[in-house]
Amino acid sequence: MATLVTGGAGYIGSHTAVALHEAGRDVVIVDNLANASRRAVEAVRALTTPEVVFVEGDLLDPVVLDRVFAEHEIDEVVHFAAHKAVGESVAHPLEYYRNNLGSTIGLADAMVRHGGNRLVFSSAGTGYGQPETGPVTEAAATGAESPYGWTKYMAEQILTDTAAVTDLDAVLLRYFNPVGAHPSGTLGEDPHGIPNNLVPFVMQVAVGRLDRVRVFGADYDTPDGSGVRDYIHVMDLAEAHVAALDALGRGLPGATPINIGTGVGHSVLEVIEAAARAVGSPIPYEVVGRRPGDIAMTWAATDRAEELLGWRTSRDLDEMLRDHWRWQSSNPDGYA
Ligand code: UD1
Repeated sequence: MATLVTGGAGYIGSHTAVALHEAGRDVVIVDNLANASRRAVEAVRALTTPEVVFVEGDLLDPVVLDRVFAEHEIDEVVHFAAHKAVGESVAHPLEYYRNNLGSTIGLADAMVRHGGNRLVFSSAGTGYGQPETGPVTEAAATGAESPYGWTKYMAEQILTDTAAVTDLDAVLLRYFNPVGAHPSGTLGEDPHGIPNNLVPFVMQVAVGRLDRVRVFGADYDTPDGSGVRDYIHVMDLAEAHVAALDALGRGLPGATPINIGTGVGHSVLEVIEAAARAVGSPIPYEVVGRRPGDIAMTWAATDRAEELLGWRTSRDLDEMLRDHWRWQSSNPDGYA
């Protein structure tokens, strides 16, 4: 039997492929390489013996899906493949709905027809908005702020409705802010163009590709005025997928949303300080205006993950930044 990882050449998918292999799974990656590099697949293969199988193909093509299910005995799936840029999704909503929902529907359909019935879905904590008080629980999701966010919200609903009437069971992992890299420094995040997210931006400043970090607001109602988020090491996140498949294997029924975070918030300024410690020199920054759409703070309630998956994070902010820096400094141009 084999585990299918869609989008397995991407940032979180590639780390998860390695974690699944380490947990004893035979891994089959499907990726169309639209926003990922073949070198990421090579990096995964260098860390895994025997080799993971790689199929270059698009999930919107039912022939590709049927071939993968027919040729490999797929009994479980981790589904990452999706467009993921918030701003781009606002400019190109139809492309986002077509790609992200079409691939999820096609995949779920193939699973139902071929009998692979355990699915872990890569969702996001983006639909939560600003919590009233304390950490965000799974009950809080109310919608989304962008077409990208809506695709995650709608895909969760599609899988929930499908799980209600088929043998398919799903865990819907709602990630907070993944950062870091594989400790080998050979596998990491490789954003195209100027990064939107904080840590990739900070790292490009550290290698000299950008001149300074812009801190989007230091006048929030937070301890130091800058925005607070729940950053999670990508290796902890990868291991959460293994734990979720194991929980499905033990019989967790239906479609279950589960937050994946550390339960601890860190501010933008704390992240910049941790990056400076990792790099060994100060990170230049300036405070600028707030970014439209940003909230002051959010962090995850982790009780459900601990209860249902028996999983919790073990890596702190300094380890996240150290590992991210090892990757970025050994690969200043990413996989290019
Ligand atoms: C963003 C996405 C979210 C996605 C997540 C992936 C938006 C609105 N949300 O979340 O959908 O799942 O990334 O990790 O885009 N910041 C700066 N300077 C920068 C960049 C960011 O100060 O150059 C601040 C932000 O204001 C925020 C924090 O850093 O307080 C984190 O920002 P970011 O990494 O973009 O993540 P989110 O906005 O939380």
